[in-house]
Amino acid sequence: MRGRGFRVRHVLLALVAGLSFTAGAAPDARAKARTQARVEALLSAMTLEEKLGQLQQLDGFSEGHPRAEHATMIRQGRLGSTLNVRGAKTTNELQRIAMEQSRLGIPVLFAFDVIHGYRTIFPVPLAETATWDPTIAERAAHVAAIESTAVGLKWTFAPMVDIARDPRWGRIVEGSGEDPYLGSLFARARVKGFQGDDMAAPDRVMACAKHWVGYGAGEGGRDYNTTEISEHALREVYFPPFKAAVEAGVGTFMSAFNDLNGVPATANPFTLRRILKEQWNFDGFVVSDYESVKETIAHGLAADAKDAARYSLLAGLDMEMVSRTYAEHLPALLDEGEVAMTAVDDAVRRILTKKAELGLFERPYTDESREARDLDRPEYHRLAREAAGKSVVLLKNERDVLPLRKSLGSVALIGPLANDKQAPLGSWLGDGRSEPVVTVLEGLRAKLPGANRVRFVKGVEVEGSGLDQIEQAVEAAKASDVAVLVLGERSDMSGEAASRSRIDLPGRQQDLLRAVLATGKPVVLVLMSGRPLALEWEVANTPAVVQAWFGGTQAGHGLADVLMGDLEPHGKLPVTFPRAVGQIPIYYNHKNTGRPPDPNNKYSSKYIDLSSDPLFPFGYGLTYSKFELADLKIENTEIRAGEPVRASVKITNSGIRRATEVVQLYLRDHAASVTRPVKELKAYRRVYLEPGETKLVTFELAYTELGFHDRDMRYVVEPGMFSLIAGLHSATGLESTFRLLKAR
Ligand code: BGC
Repeated sequence: MRGRGFRVRHVLLALVAGLSFTAGAAPDARAKARTQARVEALLSAMTLEEKLGQLQQLDGFSEGHPRAEHATMIRQGRLGSTLNVRGAKTTNELQRIAMEQSRLGIPVLFAFDVIHGYRTIFPVPLAETATWDPTIAERAAHVAAIESTAVGLKWTFAPMVDIARDPRWGRIVEGSGEDPYLGSLFARARVKGFQGDDMAAPDRVMACAKHWVGYGAGEGGRDYNTTEISEHALREVYFPPFKAAVEAGVGTFMSAFNDLNGVPATANPFTLRRILKEQWNFDGFVVSDYESVKETIAHGLAADAKDAARYSLLAGLDMEMVSRTYAEHLPALLDEGEVAMTAVDDAVRRILTKKAELGLFERPYTDESREARDLDRPEYHRLAREAAGKSVVLLKNERDVLPLRKSLGSVALIGPLANDKQAPLGSWLGDGRSEPVVTVLEGLRAKLPGANRVRFVKGVEVEGSGLDQIEQAVEAAKASDVAVLVLGERSDMSGEAASRSRIDLPGRQQDLLRAVLATGKPVVLVLMSGRPLALEWEVANTPAVVQAWFGGTQAGHGLADVLMGDLEPHGKLPVTFPRAVGQIPIYYNHKNTGRPPDPNNKYSSKYIDLSSDPLFPFGYGLTYSKFELADLKIENTEIRAGEPVRASVKITNSGIRRATEVVQLYLRDHAASVTRPVKELKAYRRVYLEPGETKLVTFELAYTELGFHDRDMRYVVEPGMFSLIAGLHSATGLESTFRLLKAR
């Protein structure tokens, strides 16, 4: 057996080495041709069983070990990829079986959900997006790639680029929020951070844009739920971050769990084949989600497992995660002529090509000494602290309660999340450990050394009524100069399968807040959560409110940096915060309707019992200073076809602190053949200003950015009246118009 395998490989290598058409070609083209030749040579030598093996991915145990059958299957060429199996030694052992004992020596591709860090955990993706700084996401993804490759991984199931307009959906935490433009910037940055310019480099992993597509639009915010999304909305809202990932060179896509317009996304030929592979020319492969091929039966599409395999493969789904319908049923489907071998070959080719591009054939093994060297390094923690700090969003700051003065006597630090080492890790924590997590208590104590300067009382549990220390909390507040309450959700209250029907403070947390507010002491409410919470009462009654999300390993230091004013608040909301669940879905880039909300007109689009405005709009976030915009000028108010639009606006820091602000530029197309949103973010700039300083911020929008998909789904730019709106968040701003002239 072994000898035969060696012979086959020898012939293949000779074949690849002897290719003459690569001579003289550019290095990139030569590498491509070599990869292609290797893949074609392998393909022609593979048995059907070996081909189907490449289409199969199986799960190991959550702590990283493979299952007993994996080694045998790898030896027989029946398993091409695993998830959760990790550790340099473990993966090397399995890889050695693939390379030395399988007939063709095709390497195994080891995958894992490295979503916002492997060992060093960064803020959850929604929080990271609140930095509005994609370079942070890129650097964080690179660190995650370094740590992942140190333990033998070469593929991460990230970035998650699902647009989410429903904070009930627990997985809103994993993405970049509601905006296609911001989402696209972060999609691109994360793909670049994971893959670099060459994903074969020893410190890079292959990325996976997921979940293709529409997963965030599940009805009622319930996970895995049905979606009905018009093709127009798909193209305008849900596709763009995926498209950005493709443009950034993402190696793989993952299909989503949801039923999309009557066809489960995992078996949807329109999205998988027509859009992704044909229109976008995506040359990578698509992996299913966990058992989602088999789940097409429960959806009511496939009659049985064989039907599930047929539907999915024909739709363009290449690799099956965990369920085994391909391995079990494709042989019969091929025999019966229901599926052509070319369809199987196309899937195998795509997978082998990525394995080759990952350099796995040349460097299948991991240097085992890296595991001790490359995890948890101090420079990664410094970046995690920067990211945690910059993701914090200041939502309210009456009477300048914040920043806390260094000369402050003492702080009462109260709440179930104030000293919680688990919550900051979020719901996908890779191999993150809770011991090194810096809690808010630790972060504040580091800033305010000395006995009794930070008095900590847990107060209540996040949920339930198992703990009652409300009185002690009140006493601590009375004895201190200021009370900081850290309230919100546990990390398992968002993420997968963690949708909520109420998005308030669970348990007795509001009682705790009320009691502390009644002391009359200044109160800062710090919110830890993986989603926007609807806290109208809390926000109205608390002088200072800060959204801290789940900040990762360095959460406490990052937050303390902001609370104490060592870092100016940077964060802006990547998603709208509703006042109440009844407003959902609520998002800034909505349509105007024929009857926009008008307080003086009953027959306008609104609620009779609540404002239609959000609690906090998209793009919102205060600073410790004050900023004003003035003089929005559009350089050319009559634009001819093909010309860019140039605009400028002045921003002044009218406060007394040096601070940073984000100038946001929105576009409105007043009349078009398909109605357009009231505004869409098109660009933004971060500026740093000294007190009293004014800067001129300039923007240039390319002509193509003025377009949209028309009724026939063509991308068009239509003449007519447009507005540019410059603001510090999405709800208000300076507005100026320009006209796009008809082409003559
Ligand atoms: C999730 C994916 C994840 C996969 C593998 C699924 O349940 O939806 O996001 O990548 O599991 O862990």
